[in-house]
Amino acid sequence: MDGSKKPVVRVGLLGFGTIGTGVVGHLIGQRQLIADRLGCSIEIARIADLDIERDRGVKVEPGWMTRDAFEVVRDPNVDVVVELIGGTGIAKAVILEAFRNGKPVVTANKALICEHGPELFEAARAAGQDFYFEASVGGGIPIIKDLREGLVGNQIQSVYGILNGTCNYILTRMAEAGLDFDQALAEASQKGYAEADPSLDIDGIDTMHKAVILASLAYGFWVDYQEVYTEGIRSLQAIDIACAQELGYEVKLLAVIRAGSTGGPVEVRVHPAMLPKDHILASVRGVYNAAFTTGDVVGQHLAFGRGAGMDATTSSVIADLADISLNMLHQCPRRVADFRKHANYSGLLPIEDVETRYYIRLSVADQPGVLARIAAIFGDLRISIASMIQHESEHGSAEGVTLIFLTHRAREASIREAVRQVESLPTTLGPASVLRVEEDCQGG
Ligand code: HSE
Repeated sequence: MDGSKKPVVRVGLLGFGTIGTGVVGHLIGQRQLIADRLGCSIEIARIADLDIERDRGVKVEPGWMTRDAFEVVRDPNVDVVVELIGGTGIAKAVILEAFRNGKPVVTANKALICEHGPELFEAARAAGQDFYFEASVGGGIPIIKDLREGLVGNQIQSVYGILNGTCNYILTRMAEAGLDFDQALAEASQKGYAEADPSLDIDGIDTMHKAVILASLAYGFWVDYQEVYTEGIRSLQAIDIACAQELGYEVKLLAVIRAGSTGGPVEVRVHPAMLPKDHILASVRGVYNAAFTTGDVVGQHLAFGRGAGMDATTSSVIADLADISLNMLHQCPRRVADFRKHANYSGLLPIEDVETRYYIRLSVADQPGVLARIAAIFGDLRISIASMIQHESEHGSAEGVTLIFLTHRAREASIREAVRQVESLPTTLGPASVLRVEEDCQGG
């Protein structure tokens, strides 16, 4: 930090893509506002990117650009490093090198934090440096700050998150325009929401990375991402979205994070789920994200906003830079630790032991005794049927009839066994569609 006049915090930016361009543009555009609010300026000093020629439409000073990220993290004129390279390869190496060179780091890299959080936190701690990652979850929504600071006096009972804008856009269009999955994905790509390879989004991986980060902060042990049940939206059918709507539900790709008392297990799972239309998260449409948290002191808390995109994500990167700048100005690094182990839980609840309600749609032959046999399978497995719908069809139709069951709370393992047995009946005409129905998520 140059403290000769008004202090200036000098930023070394790694990765000059969409978010990097936003950071440069908004640090210039909001320079005076930020300086007035913080009492110090935040200015770009160096930028590393493989492409140092392209005009991004923001002002770049001669001498900023290099292709070598390590040159930036070792530069004595850089006070703080912003890592926007992404991925878990070079990004990790340059962050560790930044800590070794005595520099704090801001990152938006959810995959890296999710997979290598403990190693990076240990390196930051050993170096006595700050490590902030607000932009890794929920784009511009300050959900990390909420959990780590605003709700610090709460035992977190649950966090229900809509954490992927691309998936929420696709599901919104399937519900509102009756599109099937492929049509809605094509529309999301055409509008620039979906990545060229959208699999991280639609297979739920991006949401899982974010869920691991939130769950770990909420419950004080670093969640092993390989143990998190993750199911995306790729195989969702328009008919199930329509049926859910008819029954009074919206389908959302949900991160479910919740725990009972300390000592017990924590649930962390990512999958499409039916939410009652009157739940506050059911009204989160399009590319928006939201996290609905319940704490034992505060009660319900909602964080809502733009979960992706240049400007929203830049807003969070600048917020982290502001925190680090103030910590540097007042010589109190690690005022808010990146992650602190703080509670004892017995690990993650296996998905087989999760209990919730279920929607099961079947196509079956329209013959005497079919319904009774299915009901017997459910009964033998102690699955209680809450309601059942059968639309009348032409008797003996080759396509069969559609049966829809809504169950009371049941164990996932029992539902899986019931579906296996029902699908093996000769009168069942195809695979079942199963959706979890989250009705316990209204908070306390
Ligand atoms: N691709 C993500 C989304 C944003 O669609 O929400 C980055 O995590």
